[in-house]
Amino acid sequence: MAEDSIYNEMKKAGISRRNFLKTCGLIAGVIGISDIPLENIAGLDIPAGSIAKASGYKPELIVARALESKPRVPIIWLELQDCAGCSEALTRSQSPTLGDLVLSKITVEYHETLSAAAGFQAEEAKEAAMKKYAGQYILVVEGSVSPKDGGIYCTIGGKSNYDILMEAAEGAAAIIATGNCAAFGGLPKAKPNPTGAMGVMEVITDKPIINVPGCPAIPEVFTGIVAHYLVFGTIPELDDLKRPKLFYGKTIHDRCLRRPFYDAGKYALSYDDKGAKEGWCLYKLGCKGPTTYNSCATLKWSGGLSFPIQSGHPCLGCSEPNFWDGGGFYQGQSAILDKPAGSVTAAAAGAGAAIGVGMALANQAKKKKAHSAESSEKEA
Ligand code: SF4
Ligand code: F3S
Repeated sequence: MAEDSIYNEMKKAGISRRNFLKTCGLIAGVIGISDIPLENIAGLDIPAGSIAKASGYKPELIVARALESKPRVPIIWLELQDCAGCSEALTRSQSPTLGDLVLSKITVEYHETLSAAAGFQAEEAKEAAMKKYAGQYILVVEGSVSPKDGGIYCTIGGKSNYDILMEAAEGAAAIIATGNCAAFGGLPKAKPNPTGAMGVMEVITDKPIINVPGCPAIPEVFTGIVAHYLVFGTIPELDDLKRPKLFYGKTIHDRCLRRPFYDAGKYALSYDDKGAKEGWCLYKLGCKGPTTYNSCATLKWSGGLSFPIQSGHPCLGCSEPNFWDGGGFYQGQSAILDKPAGSVTAAAAGAGAAIGVGMALANQAKKKKAHSAESSEKEA
């Protein structure tokens, strides 16, 4: 039986026309519809490939027409080696209508933590959803996968995590790997990685995969990606790590509110010095913002309230591969490792941004030296 349209499903779930249109406006904003090339939206005379803002239609109307004509997209949500942080973050999304749309009322068919059913009943519900929606559902994976030793380090309902993932992936139209663990292996993959943890894209290579890294993923980014799929039936443009460019196209540093201090060479050197109190750049306290791609500086957290750097803590690089092993959270990839002599400190403060390159080279040389010393120790 053909699925009802998303709009009809929302109506059945008690969402009024007014709230539906509000949600459409929200979705249009989150996915940045104005600059997206459009294809075949039922009821709208839009030449294929034309940019939404040039079409003459209001963004929310384009979204509304799409949701009125497109069928509901079921989601099956697995949790493997994870802490459920991405699910927790999503339940606290500050876009409640959108979060609701994705989580409970419209799309999620099975979610291990949020499902009312438990035990065998939950497993049966998952099997039934996989069968009913074969080839149509989006599979969301939270947590890393561990194929090592037959997958014995994470089993659910007597099945290994690896088998569970492979079975569910087979009938998926696309896979969203949410959080750093599912995208890149995350904390379970940190050295010495006893379970052989890895990201989903390392074991599945024949399906479209969208990585939504972060620790956790920003809920509005996750819902934005699902909304994009609902409206267009396609996945957004991805970077070379399979992250949507829409949300991961710029570094934290590109849009950081402390950037003017970085450019002026003004750095906090401890968490309670004058610079910290005056909101200076956190680069020398280990900030990974210059090499981290994510939307924290613009979307922020808790309804746009703040994000780590605004609250006084360096970015840890939680949306990048191997961030747990990146040389120490408080040692920046390009911040100096040892306290420099007084004259060097003064020069660094004056030279501002340019000094970072020198620091990076110094660090590289220092790391190399440490590495070769370590290797010769091992060989000896
Ligand atoms: Fe902001 Fe960090 Fe860049 Fe400084 S180094 S401007 S705190 S992102
Ligand atoms: Fe993560 Fe850095 Fe944002 S630590 S939450 S990517 S500011």
